[in-house]
Amino acid sequence: MVAVIGTFSFNTTPSVVFGAGSAARLGEIAAAQLGRRVLIVTDQGLVAAGLVAPAVSSLEQAGCAVSVFDKVVADPPESVVLEAVECGAGFGADAVIGLGGGSSLDVAKLVALLLRSGERLADIYGIGQVRGKRLPLLLSPTTAGTGSEVTPISIVTTGAHEKKGVVSPVLLPDIALLDPELTYGLPAPVTAATGVDAMVHAIESFTSTSANRNPISAALATEALRLLAGNISAAAHRGDHDARGKMLLGSMLAGQAFANSPVAAVHALAYPIGGHYGIPHGLSNALVLPAVLEFNLPAAESAYAELAPHAFPDLAREPSSSRAAAFIRRLAALSSDLGLPPRLRDVGIPADAVPMLAREAMKQTRLLVNNPRPLEEANVAAIYEASW
Ligand SMILES: [Fe+2]
Repeated sequence: MVAVIGTFSFNTTPSVVFGAGSAARLGEIAAAQLGRRVLIVTDQGLVAAGLVAPAVSSLEQAGCAVSVFDKVVADPPESVVLEAVECGAGFGADAVIGLGGGSSLDVAKLVALLLRSGERLADIYGIGQVRGKRLPLLLSPTTAGTGSEVTPISIVTTGAHEKKGVVSPVLLPDIALLDPELTYGLPAPVTAATGVDAMVHAIESFTSTSANRNPISAALATEALRLLAGNISAAAHRGDHDARGKMLLGSMLAGQAFANSPVAAVHALAYPIGGHYGIPHGLSNALVLPAVLEFNLPAAESAYAELAPHAFPDLAREPSSSRAAAFIRRLAALSSDLGLPPRLRDVGIPADAVPMLAREAMKQTRLLVNNPRPLEEANVAAIYEASW
């Protein structure tokens, strides 16, 4: 994809700790490298699943004082971020650990920043608006999807439905701790949807028209797609532990890719579906993925053809003239095999919602500028209709 190596920058989380059972080292790592008064940002589901208690005892055994904020919800609203900041300030936190899915990690990033810098959340939306520094921060994902542990992005729901992003290298944590054991208990639909999200990160990063599109992201994206597409079925259908480890690694590589060569129209069209109808982020992506890629085909055919054998090795034998189209068909078939609902109507979205969704998607200019084929509102509406 990257024919000429131009000028680019590449930033990622400086320290990655990976391995089954590595969460048991949380206390040791935090006490030595983060701080002694640790705020854990997580959700109640993880507390109930018993994944938070071992983290707390590991930290306490290492001599840390711990406070747990467990009120993160999917598509976290601003109020949750502010409440977590208040909780951390009251506790006197000098370090933050995010433990959970993308929502908990996104909130943890903002909490670490706002606790130290004192900035107002309303002032830092957008790209590069952060001025201050953050507290020491470790992020440990419990889904193989967002790659949030290696991205400089936090997404917050503002007002009733709209999503806004804070994008700044300051949000990259000091440490990403990836323990595949934390993902062993994930239900199949969550494994499938979050895994498709990670695959979309790899695909959209590879075809991004961002000025910072770069060969490191391209290399990471192809390896991510190989790991994700090759293991998502075994992880979702059988909970295979080796496959889950490869998914977690793949989602991180895809995160490193799109953190530097950002995602595009699939995500822009997915956000209003999540914001207005509460559809999980990964599923929102899966619902519009085939139609967006079909639309992009005239501009991205060679890139999709290049990606195809990384995801589906047998497509190497497909004639190059039909390989990109076959890639899109196979992605749709994979979603269906994973049991994900294929159409917007299947998740309760009415046909007459299309104009509103298209209007909302057009606001995601941060993402739309990276799409390989430019989109007008009428194109976006046609994609939603094709996905309905
Ligand atoms: Fe995503």
